[in-house]
Amino acid sequence: MIIIFLGPPGSGKGTQAKKLAEDRHWPQLSTGDMLRKAKTEQTAFGSAARKAMDEGQLVPDQLVIDLIGARIEMADCANGFILDGFPRNLPQAQALDQLLAARRKTISAVVLFQIPDAVLVERLAGRRTCLGCGEMYHLVNFPSEKAGICDRCGAEVVQRLDDQADVVMKRIQIYHHSTEPLQVYYRGQKKLLLLDASQGVGLVSRELMGVLS
Ligand code: AP5
Repeated sequence: MIIIFLGPPGSGKGTQAKKLAEDRHWPQLSTGDMLRKAKTEQTAFGSAARKAMDEGQLVPDQLVIDLIGARIEMADCANGFILDGFPRNLPQAQALDQLLAARRKTISAVVLFQIPDAVLVERLAGRRTCLGCGEMYHLVNFPSEKAGICDRCGAEVVQRLDDQADVVMKRIQIYHHSTEPLQVYYRGQKKLLLLDASQGVGLVSRELMGVLS
C-alpha cells in the first residue's frame, strides 16, 4: 500500500507514521527527516534547504520531488510505503502521480489529520527531538526520563529551530495556504480518509487502523 499522511505541522503525522511503519513493515518516507539529515551532513541538498527550513518556508519543489523519486526506487519500497510530509502543494501532488504512474503504481489512501490550530501550537512548543536517533519527546506529554537526554540513545534532546513560536505560526499559515487545497485534489480522486488527530496517541492509532481497514 502507498499511504499519504496529510496534516498540519504538529498534528502527529510523524508519531503515527513511525508506529504504522513498525506494525506493517512499510518504510516511513519523511521529507522533513530526510532534509534534516541532509542539513546535518551538509550535503548539497541540505545546504539548499537550510534557510527555507529554518524560516518555516517550504523548500523548492524540485528538490523534494527528486528526493522522493530516488527514495521510492529503493528495494524496501517495493511493497508499499508511508509518505509523511510529502506532497505539500499541488505541483508536488501532480509530480507524485507522475512518478507513481511511470512505475505502474498508485496511491492507496490519503489520511487527513484533522486538528485545531491551538492544539498544534501547544504540541510544537513542547516538542523536543533527539539529535542522535530522532526520537521525539514532549515536555509535558512525553518527557524524557532525564531532562535533555534521550532515553533511547543517550544523545542530547533539543528544540527544533523551526519549533520556535514565530516559525510555528508561519508553518501553520503555509499549511493552510499551500497544503490544505490538496484535500480537494484527493477528495476528487476518492482517496481522502478523515482522522480525528486531536485525541491521545493511542486513540489516534486505533482510529487510524480503523480507517485504513
Ligand atoms: P516536517 O518535518 O515534515 O514538519 P511538519 O510537517 O511541519 O511536521 P512536524 O514534524 O512538525 O509534525 P508532525 O505532524 O509529524 O507531528 P509529530 O508526530 O512530530 O518538515 C519540516 C520542514 O522541512 C518544513 O517546514 C519545510 O521547510 C521542509 N519540508 C519538509 N517536507 C517538505 C516538502 N514536501 N516540501 C517542501 N518543504 C518540505 O508530533 C508533534 C508533537 O506532538 C511531538 O512532541 C509529539 O510527541 C506530540 N504528539 C504527537 N501526537 C500526539 C497526540 N495524539 N497527543 C498528544 N501529543 C502528541
